[in-house]
Amino acid sequence: MVRIALIGAGQIGSRHLQALAHLPEAEIWIYDVSEASLQVAIERFQQVSSTTDFVGNCHLVTNMAAFPAHVDVAFITTTAQHRRQAFDQMLQHTMPRFVVFEKVLFQRIQDLEEVKAELHHRGIPGYVNFPRRQYPVYQQLKQSILADHDRSIHLQVTGGQWGLACNGLHFIDLFSFITGSETFEIDAKGLTGVPFESKRAGFFEVNGTLRVTDDRGNSMALSCLEEPFASNVSITTTKRWMTISEGVAQPMQASGKANDGWKPESAPCIIPYQSQLSHLVVQDLMKTGTCDLPSYDEALPPHAKFLSTLLTHFRTHMGWNHDYCPIT
Ligand SMILES: NC(=O)c1ccc[n+]([C@@H]2O[C@H](COP(=O)([O-])OP(=O)(O)OC[C@H]3O[C@@H](n4cnc5c(N)ncnc54)[C@H](O)[C@@H]3O)[C@@H](O)[C@H]2O)c1
Repeated sequence: MVRIALIGAGQIGSRHLQALAHLPEAEIWIYDVSEASLQVAIERFQQVSSTTDFVGNCHLVTNMAAFPAHVDVAFITTTAQHRRQAFDQMLQHTMPRFVVFEKVLFQRIQDLEEVKAELHHRGIPGYVNFPRRQYPVYQQLKQSILADHDRSIHLQVTGGQWGLACNGLHFIDLFSFITGSETFEIDAKGLTGVPFESKRAGFFEVNGTLRVTDDRGNSMALSCLEEPFASNVSITTTKRWMTISEGVAQPMQASGKANDGWKPESAPCIIPYQSQLSHLVVQDLMKTGTCDLPSYDEALPPHAKFLSTLLTHFRTHMGWNHDYCPIT
């Protein structure tokens, strides 16, 4: 039976847990410092497990000493400022075969390399939860672009109040996934106004546009407006375009191809919830030793670049004088 540790049972942790109720069988240890979070998480899990054939147990713990010595997969789903401590503490109590980290990995750039060294030293493959790589709509789009042999790709994300600082890395990862680019520059000159406190206490946000370019001529613009506006993702190449309206109740994809005279077509598309994805990650890891999510090593350079770009911006525009970047 697969053994899983979930560290941090808040909003997203409880959604990972709901997905795990789709496994045929599992033993799951759920750790949180908050009893209230554990209770909400187990109730959410049971809402789903009562409708599936799940066999196994959930162990709610407020001390990692209750973890077994080995687990197959550990999910670290605390907010970013606690993730390094949670990772270190986990290794004192259990040895995972695989670790899935939530984004943002860590707030301090030095933690990125230190944890990489630790994972390599212990031979633990790490992955980062950028779930768009699991969405069929983006997987199919990537295949189409590969089949076109088109190397000139532009990605545009537009929306209002979508949390550019805390969520921008999702789209930088999508850019990497679709273009295959590993090296790029991020330009923060298009950010507007003074960084402001996020709706979540302790984190900061920015509005305006971040521009990303790679060394192959591909580019991306991430725009976040001050007013609420449902976000959409547009991808344009010389041979096709597609716009995915992600932020609406019934997501749609609109597209056109040069070889069809750019005739626009549109169709509904599915944007899966986290509660429909994490069990697939576990099943893939158990079956093949890998999964659709980016590896830790792949996700590290964009994290380092993004954190340093925002740290410089925060220092310049709000006198931030700490060594950590206040995003999650
Ligand atoms: N990949 C995605 O699509 C996605 C979506 C939403 C959130 N996230 C990320 O997930 C992370 C968590 O977000 P959230 O909305 O669930 O936050 P949250 O505040 O709802 O949950 C965090 C939980 O971690 C617990 N916690 C804090 N310190 C801890 C520690 N040392 N050990 C164990 N538990 C601890 C808290 O008690 C809380 O229950 C954030 O980094 C966020 O950016 C990712």
